[in-house]
Amino acid sequence: MDAFDLVVRNAHCATAADVFDADIGIKDGRIAALGKGLAPGREEIDAAGRWVLPGGIDGHCHLDQPMNDGSKMADDFITGTRSAACGGTTTVIPFACQIKGQSLRAAVDDYHRRAHGKASVDYAFHLIVSDPTPEVLENELPALIREGYSSFKIYMTYDDLKLADRQIIDVLAVARDEGAMVMIHAENTDCIAWLTERLIRAGKTAPRYHAASRPMLVEREATHRAIAYAEMVDVPILIVHVSGHEAIEQIQWAQNHGLRIYGETCPQYLFLTADDLGIDDSPSSHEHGAKCICSPPPRDKANQQVVWDALAAGVFQIFSSDHAPFRYAGPDGKLGAGADARFDQIPNGIPGLETRMPLLFSHGVLDGRIDICQFVALTSTNVAKTYGLYPRKGSIAIGADADLVIWDAGTTRTICNTDLHHAVDYTPYEGIEVKAWPALTLLRGTPVWRDGRFLGTAGEGRFQACALPAPARPKFSREAA
Ligand code: URP
Ligand code: ZN
Ligand code: ZN
Repeated sequence: MDAFDLVVRNAHCATAADVFDADIGIKDGRIAALGKGLAPGREEIDAAGRWVLPGGIDGHCHLDQPMNDGSKMADDFITGTRSAACGGTTTVIPFACQIKGQSLRAAVDDYHRRAHGKASVDYAFHLIVSDPTPEVLENELPALIREGYSSFKIYMTYDDLKLADRQIIDVLAVARDEGAMVMIHAENTDCIAWLTERLIRAGKTAPRYHAASRPMLVEREATHRAIAYAEMVDVPILIVHVSGHEAIEQIQWAQNHGLRIYGETCPQYLFLTADDLGIDDSPSSHEHGAKCICSPPPRDKANQQVVWDALAAGVFQIFSSDHAPFRYAGPDGKLGAGADARFDQIPNGIPGLETRMPLLFSHGVLDGRIDICQFVALTSTNVAKTYGLYPRKGSIAIGADADLVIWDAGTTRTICNTDLHHAVDYTPYEGIEVKAWPALTLLRGTPVWRDGRFLGTAGEGRFQACALPAPARPKFSREAA
């Protein structure tokens, strides 16, 4: 009987902390041994000369999330997780979204039904809390956090999701008591509404005006306010999809003052600019602009550089795709409101699950902006730690799940939507060159992507309950904080 089910030989490994060479012995889906000259496995793979890294964890992606504006996400758990596997991501954390009026529990049950039997990589759920009723705050949310849904997102904008400031404070207090991680979408909703009304009255309706309706100051102000509330309640928070300089300054200020404020950024803030929303009112600008509308919007080249610098300096802990998969064509896609859809009628969000890891490996690591350990931390280890999946996920260590990626680094390829595996009819990254792509993705020791072929199976991906360490401080008294 072989000692291992699989041995990955001569692996040039990186974790968030170290670089080392080893054979990786895998048994029953887990890493059972690391060392030189391991005994034979039933199967063997030679990784000589190639990086072997922990599988990516995409801590912010939207799959089959119910929408209430007539749009529909193109990716469900079948196509979304297939795309993840092909891009080197072995765990996804999409959102069980509470619709206002719905119980949080019903949202979670519904989302499990949507995922059941479909995922080909592992998955956990964040919650989206949009209706923090007394029942949600006192019973549902604490119970769900304890059951393995230990992170949730709240919105400071979008009419169907946003919380009032007092509600934000109330949910932060629950997170503090229960030890949950709160992800905050920080944009000032009233400023956006006022600017949007003025732009539309002036006939400025093309996609490029999306950027003018959500300038950096609306993100800066909301980021500042979220940080102040977190400081007052004494709870860590993560500001998600940070787009540039002024929001980064707020996060850096908080970090320098010892507050536990964490930051996430995404490929769109490194590879797109506001010019991608359109440079004029032509049909081609409208098309490209509609495809690139997301919030916060991409900024300018100078802001891209500031985001790169903040990634390198450790201001950001997490690099996610914010995959929000709407098709361009069709009645439930970007142009559901018509060929001339106004910027405020176009669903917000862009696809990026499959391209997240290759883009950062190539333009971050291979271009010398971040090192390989930072890449692992940003795309996998920190995500696992922040959301309660570590050490089962996010590292190369004995006992961890054998979620591994062997990288092919050195061959140049051009990103092209026809090569991708999502169900979206475009990629905003079309035409960008990358010099790295996964050669092999292993999910718990089983290949799900190898040499250009998807090998995964719907239903093989398992739900992962998340557990964060208990908060090391006394709870608030409900009577007197
Ligand atoms: O535009 C975006 N980011 N759409 C996805 C939803 C969200 O706010 O993350
Ligand atoms: Zn958001
Ligand atoms: Zn998102």
